Amino acid sequence: MEVERVQALATAGLEALPAQFVRPSHERPENSRAIEGVTVPVISLSQPHDVLVREIHEACRDWGFFLVTNHGIPGELIGRVQDAGREFFRLPLEEKEKYANDPSRGSFEGYGTKMTKNHDEKLEWVDYFFHLMHPPYKVRHDIWPQHPPSYREVTEEYNEELLKVTEVLLELISEGLGLEKNVLKASLGGDQMELEMKINLYPPCPQPQLALGVEPHTDMSALTILVPNDVPGLQVWKDGNWFAVDYPPNALFFHIGDQIEVLSNGKYKSVLHRSLVNKEKTRMSWAVFCAPPQETLIGPFPELINDQNPAKYSTKTYAEFRYCKFNKLPQ
Ligand code: SIN
Ligand code: FE2
Repeated sequence: MEVERVQALATAGLEALPAQFVRPSHERPENSRAIEGVTVPVISLSQPHDVLVREIHEACRDWGFFLVTNHGIPGELIGRVQDAGREFFRLPLEEKEKYANDPSRGSFEGYGTKMTKNHDEKLEWVDYFFHLMHPPYKVRHDIWPQHPPSYREVTEEYNEELLKVTEVLLELISEGLGLEKNVLKASLGGDQMELEMKINLYPPCPQPQLALGVEPHTDMSALTILVPNDVPGLQVWKDGNWFAVDYPPNALFFHIGDQIEVLSNGKYKSVLHRSLVNKEKTRMSWAVFCAPPQETLIGPFPELINDQNPAKYSTKTYAEFRYCKFNKLPQ
């Protein structure tokens, strides 16, 4: 199926934003300005354990979002991951189209751009590449970018590093909930827990004040680990306001997703976030979603439920949760 790529639109030199990208008035960045200069939590992993558990607990409870520094992933490796993604998007359009996905047929992996299902629905100013990264036996290397040639090696190296960091963070978050350190990872499928890579490309936009790169949403996954390029744009929602997230080089951005909100029985919030676009610059981000296998049952931890705190969420498989969310059905 023919899909209009945002990157192709952007290079066509449009003066005005095409109507299908013009957000409704209340959603436009010009009418919903973010608070700037307030820092979201920045947590250094090199602090004493008890301080870390407390800071992460507070960030998950109050923001559902935090930045992590001193995480041990070499800045040089992150740089190579970013170079590889940039190289892919520099390919001519027809080369990228060879990787086109088709969400309408259930194939999400590959090169993609959101399409409208109905007249009212607005589009987002973003193209992406999405693929599974872990566990190895589910990975389809045949659909990973063949160009640049280093893509696979670099991405596998990043995957290994992220597995380690994710494990540490899931342990700290479990402890913050007052639980054994291994419970979150175990609930998310243990070694079967999946990591998915989504590279977002937000080309320069003729009227960024009318558009959104990604509309407000919470992530369906348990945890998202994101690195952006040096163009700001991510905003997170807290207590009725948008907050612009600064870009400290080499930090990892952690989003609490829906599955941790459910597992924690709402103690930790899945963070609402959106991203803005830029008139001159291309913004990019590399989001890694950490999610349970489809058949995993997810519900509030029994230890967090009692007469005073009844379960606020039903228990269902991740596949059912996704189906309800995609189809905007009640959870
Ligand atoms: C997303 O949440 O889907 C992307 C956020 C970003 O690009 O920073
Ligand atoms: Fe997101």
